[in-house]
Amino acid sequence: MFIELAKHRQSCRSYLPKNVPRQMVLDCLEAARLAPSACNSQPWHFIVVDEPATKDTLCQASLSGPYAMNRFVKEAPVIIAVVTEKAGFLTRVIGSLRGTPYWLMDIGIAVEHFVLQAAESGLATCWIGWFDERQAARVLRVPRAKKIVCLISLGYSDETLREKNRKPAQEIYSFNQYNATGLEPKTPQ
Ligand SMILES: Cc1cc2nc3c(=O)[nH]c(=O)nc-3n(C[C@H](O)[C@H](O)[C@H](O)COP(=O)(O)O)c2cc1C
Repeated sequence: MFIELAKHRQSCRSYLPKNVPRQMVLDCLEAARLAPSACNSQPWHFIVVDEPATKDTLCQASLSGPYAMNRFVKEAPVIIAVVTEKAGFLTRVIGSLRGTPYWLMDIGIAVEHFVLQAAESGLATCWIGWFDERQAARVLRVPRAKKIVCLISLGYSDETLREKNRKPAQEIYSFNQYNATGLEPKTPQ
């Protein structure tokens, strides 16, 4: 059941020294490829870094100094760099009229497809938003005009399942009108 996958998927910050079969990575990429996007513009490109030397260079360059809290990423056998491709004209126009960066929503959905497929396959991941993007772009030869939105670490978990730390349900939804308590609005007598 999907809800079980959502309950069990967690960010992993400690990985076993075990390689991930290429087919499992391809399955995650396929799940990401199938993600929906505004005007179907699919503004993403995934760089799979599974060559140990490139992975080491990437981690050394982009996860040092102020980014060192994410050094655990180097333990993961695979790192994915998620790069934005230019969204279609219509999406950019509508996005700018609405003040909504649809391309960023699109990337978020695709990455979550990726990580949920990984969880379904028994793999662990962590979204990494805090890294030296310029250094990562240099190592991975990403053109200046493009943005590396995030990295994803991928591998086999060396962690146990944690309790989820989330806001209570009644704080995050309400019915029929905005209400931070989640209660139904009182009907006028
Ligand atoms: C966009 C985004 C960026 C994140 N960046 C980092 C990061 O740089 N380092 C890290 O350890 N975790 C990062 N995380 C993981 C979150 O801390 C984690 O998802 C959150 O605390 C909930 O925990 P859980 O995923 O284990 O349920 C990021 C998550 C998202 C969605």
